[in-house]
Amino acid sequence: MLTSDDLCSLRWDATAGTVAIIDQTLLPHTLRWCHLDSLEAFCHAIASMQVRGAPLIGVTAAFGLANALSRDPSSNNLEVARAALLATRPTAVNLHWALRRVVHEVADLPPEQRADRALDCARRLREEDITSCSRIGERGLELLRALPVEGRLNIMTHCNAGWLATIQWGTALAPIYKAHAAGMPVHVWVSETRPRNQGTNLTAWELQRAGVPCTVVADNSCAELMRRGQVDCVLVGSDRTAANGDVCNKVGTCLKALAAREYGVPFYVALPLSTVDMDCPTGGDIPIEERDAAEVLAVAGLDAAGENLEVNLAGAGTRAFNPAFDITPAALVSALVTERGVVSASQDGLSVLLQG
Ligand code: MRU
Repeated sequence: MLTSDDLCSLRWDATAGTVAIIDQTLLPHTLRWCHLDSLEAFCHAIASMQVRGAPLIGVTAAFGLANALSRDPSSNNLEVARAALLATRPTAVNLHWALRRVVHEVADLPPEQRADRALDCARRLREEDITSCSRIGERGLELLRALPVEGRLNIMTHCNAGWLATIQWGTALAPIYKAHAAGMPVHVWVSETRPRNQGTNLTAWELQRAGVPCTVVADNSCAELMRRGQVDCVLVGSDRTAANGDVCNKVGTCLKALAAREYGVPFYVALPLSTVDMDCPTGGDIPIEERDAAEVLAVAGLDAAGENLEVNLAGAGTRAFNPAFDITPAALVSALVTERGVVSASQDGLSVLLQG
């Protein structure tokens, strides 16, 4: 069952008073839970991508701020901890959104009440994320059912927008899990998502555990699959969606949208409204994270004996550049699938939802 505690990415242990996360840098070969119990541990978990995916980053940061306040609830520490968490990763707006929610609730309280309220807020954000993703799943399922496809439905996704990227369900994978549970014959094309391979390492792992048929493909093969008519729709997540509907997601997303436009394949983006940034007028205003070039030049995996191994791909002295996200123009997006409904990728579409 998808809603079991087993299939969640972050647990709050009320008895121990600690947060446990799955260390996603070890997947798919090792499933290890780690406890986070200091501001440094929370910041490290986000920056090193032990936790990743926009909604999960936000919820983790909220618990991190609560943890910092449990040690020192002063206004000075509130600001220091907030700034440290905000500095971990620049692109996913959920980080700002979640920290703003916690700060808003605690800033005017007497210091001795702040830690409890912050923890309460973090726990609510966690629950809200589960509800939002489940609703995204239901809205997205309606879209999938409406596609004019007989027999197996082939859905292409990119990166990981499943329960590992949220708390449960995921965003782009939520409709797929609901469709599978409803008995629809779905198959997922998982693009590997170089350089960190979230598709191969995380999405394929999630889907296999849930029994959803899937096939990993090299990122570069996606247009060819569409040309052959082997893709019925593309369904991806978002790290930040601008006010005009431009979508920022894992690098490589825009190439899929361009190919989808060329071959007449619907291109859907699933996101909770916490991922919308009305302060960014267009995608060009979204900060794009640049990660270590070493991620492009090496790959990690297991050797024949099952030991962890990192292999250099490039010759000594090779230079690389590693933007982690890209912008898909709103005009290439067939629809945005949110917890409040399916809308056009446009200022009008988003405004209706945000006012509702
Ligand atoms: O760098 P990552 O792994 O944090 O990037 C994650 C993505 O790009 C996801 O597609 C996005 O966060 C949407 S997840 C619900």
